[in-house]
Amino acid sequence: MSIEEAVTESAPIFPPPERFQQGEVPVPHINSLEQYKELHEESVKNPTAFWGRVAKELLHWYRPFTQVNYGGFVDGDVQWFSDGQLNVAYNCVDRHAFANPDKVAIIWESDEPGQGEKITYRQLYQEVGKFANVLKKYKVRKGDTVCIYMPMVPEAAYAMLACARIGAVHSVVFAGFSADALRDRIQDAGCKILVTADQGKRGGKSIGLKVIADQALADCPSIEKVIVYQRTGDISVPFSSPRDVWWHEEVDNQSPVCPAETMNAEDPLFMLYTSGSTGKPKGVVHTTAGYLLGATATVKYIFDLHENDRFGCMADVGWITGHSYIVYGPLSNGITTVIFESIPTYPTPSRYWQLIDDHQLTQFYTAPTAIRALRRLGDEHVEPYKLDSLRVLGSVGEPINPEAWLWYHKVIGRERCAIVDTYWQTETGSIIVTPLPGAIATKPGSATLPFFGIDLAVLDPTTGQELLGNDVTGVLAIRQPFPSIARTVYDNHIRYLDTYMKPYHKYYFTGDGVTRDADGYYWIRGRVDDVINVSGHRLSTAEIESALILHPACAEAAVVGINDDVTGQAIVCFASLKSHHADETAITKAFVAQIRTHIGPFATPKRIVITPELPKTRSGKIMRRILRKVAGQEVTLADLEDEDGLRNKLGDLSTLADPSIVPTLIKKVAGRQ
Ligand code: WT7
Repeated sequence: MSIEEAVTESAPIFPPPERFQQGEVPVPHINSLEQYKELHEESVKNPTAFWGRVAKELLHWYRPFTQVNYGGFVDGDVQWFSDGQLNVAYNCVDRHAFANPDKVAIIWESDEPGQGEKITYRQLYQEVGKFANVLKKYKVRKGDTVCIYMPMVPEAAYAMLACARIGAVHSVVFAGFSADALRDRIQDAGCKILVTADQGKRGGKSIGLKVIADQALADCPSIEKVIVYQRTGDISVPFSSPRDVWWHEEVDNQSPVCPAETMNAEDPLFMLYTSGSTGKPKGVVHTTAGYLLGATATVKYIFDLHENDRFGCMADVGWITGHSYIVYGPLSNGITTVIFESIPTYPTPSRYWQLIDDHQLTQFYTAPTAIRALRRLGDEHVEPYKLDSLRVLGSVGEPINPEAWLWYHKVIGRERCAIVDTYWQTETGSIIVTPLPGAIATKPGSATLPFFGIDLAVLDPTTGQELLGNDVTGVLAIRQPFPSIARTVYDNHIRYLDTYMKPYHKYYFTGDGVTRDADGYYWIRGRVDDVINVSGHRLSTAEIESALILHPACAEAAVVGINDDVTGQAIVCFASLKSHHADETAITKAFVAQIRTHIGPFATPKRIVITPELPKTRSGKIMRRILRKVAGQEVTLADLEDEDGLRNKLGDLSTLADPSIVPTLIKKVAGRQ
């Protein structure tokens, strides 16, 4: 069933699990719909009172704020708690290490099962302190940028927290990005230090991170030091002395005590690159207090965290989900978090379920694409596991189709867990639309209702008029700032304003289509801009096109997303060649390689279609609408027989410079030419 069908049919409704009220498990923090509604109403009508209270309750301040919020979307001058002072590492590490030194902070689940380790808050405090001292030794100061290109090891979190401790701004680059992508990000941010590893491990394979990093660094003069964590020691990595140093040698020499810097609430905490509608990724900037408050409050209320919980988020620290729900949110709450190095199918498709039972996880958070892939592999991989420690199951990254939702609920949750389909973005820093386990009844496929402080609006995409009432479909926008919203795009505030604030005056524009159903529930329908979402990874069509046209054989390229049963969307590239006599098979391979080296293996296209021309209007604009339909095989060879039918499916073709390109494209996609 598609979301389209689910939203229009009367969707089944699942109330919060009954056992949440029966004393068998902790009573949810937000325990009724009325309580949610009351708090939500207060949070949007009086954000100053609401967030002022929550910020005092959940965070430790060196200097309390007197000013809660200032600024807005119109001028792009959002600030929260601006005269308050605090330190994120103090909040995530020190306060818990002092109160509870032996509590496990991080469960590291290594790629090979059984080789992981548990890190207590005391150890975390020491490791973060030592690495912070290493950074200081290499003259990293408040405001300097540090690039982190690391596999999923605890040291990635130590490095992030060490930056936070001394006020350096981290830019984590997902370890699946290629050398070119890493180089572009280091250059844009002007990073001074790169933290990386000899190799990464994933699903039994090794990834040569240091070798990739060296390629990137050939063109990154801003980097003064490369700190290399030895993950495998399997290969002798090339060392360029004195630039390169080993993590273990450096930290061995340092004191574990490093005073936490006093940071202003609006000092930047990190930047994270994300794809937009142009070829150049943007460095989304999050600041100290607002971001930390968003991460802390959302994970507490949405996953209903209690003191002894063990929270497992399966994302990578290279994405925002890893920042907010592996590192900052769970640690700020002082609970136990999981760093998972492997993949869901290694060594068997039972890996996740084994992990849950082994560590008695109470919450589990993953992406629909993983849920769909594991569902396909069969229930026999799940059945032997008890999974009875679980209370809340989360989904994130793309719309979850009702079938996958129901499987998650029945086969993994055993119908006794709350399912939270959490909608948010790199830019929002934390979850913005979601159920709450003890309060909001769920409908499979709907992210349900806004979190506290989130004031949503559905707009008519063309007129920008707000669509009031229920049963409306349009684009999703936000009316007023909330603490964890991104403050700027690094070194490009104009782009920040143009992308998010200009499309609809006075609103923040999410870029997603949405339906608010008859009950006021939100159903996210996917991007309305040129962003595609493959397995929860966000990619811009323009970025892939820029990679393709750098290839000497490529004349022009247009990239579209099509629906895919497992990955949500998949990439299809249409390209015309400079020479029409080229060997198409070889060229296709070369184009795939081109994308992998410019972006990374996760951007591998599903299909490359070589075409003599792209469909263009007479003024030269590429008609992507046509490409999307042809690529998704919404029009097929059979439609070529029926001109009216073709027009019905593709819309007006009269503006095309050369309408004969349409049958050519259809035949190409069908493999007939
Ligand atoms: C885009 C943001 C922040 C999570 C990781 C992705 C899509 C995210 C959902 C959901 C429907 C979702 C949206 C959004 N998305 N979560 N629960 N239901 N769509 O972060 O890379 O910044 O991508 O992911 O299209 O705009 P991101």
